[in-house]
Amino acid sequence: MADTPVSRRSFLGAAGAALAGAALAPGHAVAAPYVLRRSPSRLCAVASSNGLRGVAKAVDMMTQGADTLDAGVAGVKIQELDPTDQSVGYGGLPNADGVVQLDASCMHGPTKRAGAVGALEGIKTPSEIVQLVMKYTNHIMLVGRDAQRFATSYGYPIEDLLTPASREAWLHWRANMSATDNYIDVPGSEKLVKTTTGTCPMMLVNQAGDVSSIVTTSGLSWKVPGRVGDSGIVGAGQYTDNDVGAAGSTGLGECNMLVCGGFSVVDNMRRGMHPKDACLATLKRVMAMIPARWVAPNGRPTFQLQYYAVNKAGVYGAAAMTASPFAVCDEKGARTEDCAVLFS
Ligand code: GLY
Repeated sequence: MADTPVSRRSFLGAAGAALAGAALAPGHAVAAPYVLRRSPSRLCAVASSNGLRGVAKAVDMMTQGADTLDAGVAGVKIQELDPTDQSVGYGGLPNADGVVQLDASCMHGPTKRAGAVGALEGIKTPSEIVQLVMKYTNHIMLVGRDAQRFATSYGYPIEDLLTPASREAWLHWRANMSATDNYIDVPGSEKLVKTTTGTCPMMLVNQAGDVSSIVTTSGLSWKVPGRVGDSGIVGAGQYTDNDVGAAGSTGLGECNMLVCGGFSVVDNMRRGMHPKDACLATLKRVMAMIPARWVAPNGRPTFQLQYYAVNKAGVYGAAAMTASPFAVCDEKGARTEDCAVLFS
């Protein structure tokens, strides 16, 4: 079934504000918003590859009528509670002080609401906390100690998120930081965990064409304490427009934040791009916007960055700086596929 733009009548209804803006700015070409509609929509969840179990769970829930964001929270929570996933929630790699600080954010397309937390400590499931911020406050983002107090007010216990494996990885990183400090280097590089930027974003659309997105992470390992990455920022780590679709990211958050990547991908889809092409176009924008220290002499990025997207019709796509898998679940079941790449 081909994707079709909505009729001119529907288009005018959905995009009146944009057209009004265009009328106020004569001489400036404004790309026509392109709102996809297909009835019924194709139910779909797309995520980073560690979200494979999560997309299966989310699609199962949406098939039974669950709300898209409820399904997304249930999906990413699997990774948050998995101590072996060192990029998310419990067991996530800590900051330079050995403290696990978590970022997360979400958007609920049908109600046009969002929630976010930054540098949240001691709470295993920040995905649930961002949904509470969204549902029960007039705000969008809470940070640090007060985000934790908000979580405990809803009954969440403060727990030690550092698993023995994550603590050991941090101790090795600290020991090998400098050859001149008083920590004796751990011999052999095999025990060193490289700096990681893992994350678990999930974008979802149900049969009614309602869209949501959520992302959760322990962020860049060994980061400067207090650093909040793209996952905590609505419009960067994830973004949803219920008329268009949703997008999210993994990888070096700083580079994504420079282009508001989640918003950028959704805006590309609004202009009619296929989700995969929308992701690739935003990666190109990243390369144009980042400072020179993140570009190697051969012009390639020194970091990884991935975008994942689904449009309102349930058409999905993903793209990465270099080869990387992603997870998707639709009527064909849960599986991993390869992202399109900007640099092969
Ligand atoms: N994308 C995860 C982070 O940079 O924090």
